[in-house]
Amino acid sequence: MTSRVSIISADLADPKHASVILEMFDLYMRDPMEGGIAMPPEVRRNLIAGLRAHPACHVFIAYHSTAPVGFAICFLGFSTFNARPLLNIHDISVTPAMRGRGVGRAILEKVEATARKLKCCRMTLEVREDNHVARGLYRKFGFAQSTIGTVKQEFWVKPLTRTRAHPTSPTAASASASTAKAGT
Ligand SMILES: CC(C)(COP(=O)(O)OP(=O)(O)OC[C@H]1O[C@@H](n2cnc3c(N)ncnc32)[C@H](O)[C@@H]1OP(=O)(O)O)[C@@H](O)C(=O)NCCC(=O)NCCS
Repeated sequence: MTSRVSIISADLADPKHASVILEMFDLYMRDPMEGGIAMPPEVRRNLIAGLRAHPACHVFIAYHSTAPVGFAICFLGFSTFNARPLLNIHDISVTPAMRGRGVGRAILEKVEATARKLKCCRMTLEVREDNHVARGLYRKFGFAQSTIGTVKQEFWVKPLTRTRAHPTSPTAASASASTAKAGT
């Protein structure tokens, strides 16, 4: 099946790509793993312009033949300890009907190829501890919980606005790498 899947680098200046991302992002936000709420109007209004204004944003769309079936939104960061860039997978999603058929893995392969081209030293992401499907995919793909030596690292956050609260993470103070999820 994955032979009919192609992953492209999206051009958000192209209205077709922009609209595909908005539609799939709305579905993604509605997923129970992402909080289960539809995309708020202000996010719909600002998302594409915000991504286009970002200096180091990489967006990918998966197509099955001509139908969009998944996407990833990634941001380039920088590892000071390695003096090399890193690529953070901020959002990744496959449309419900196409899950479990290798699309997620195909998207990760494209992201990794891009990260290698950009000379990144690593890829990063956050995942909920109860997202067993995503964790299974990430583990198989070579991701593991971040550690320094043997000590686990956590993902901490201090909210500065009230615009996007994860209904599933009621307090920022309790958010950690194992409970918070990219896409906030
Ligand atoms: C997570 C997600 C992107 C995976 O995409 P996918 O196309 O379904 O994944 P794949 O078909 O490539 O599956 C790859 C691996 O994921 C795991 N996996 C997939 N479906 C699974 C299921 N139903 N149960 C357990 N593990 C599963 C398996 O390890 C699988 O490898 P295998 O096929 O060799 O057994 C997709 O399920 C999704 O969009 N989920 C909702 C949004 C989300 O949670 N995004 C990630 C946020 S961190």
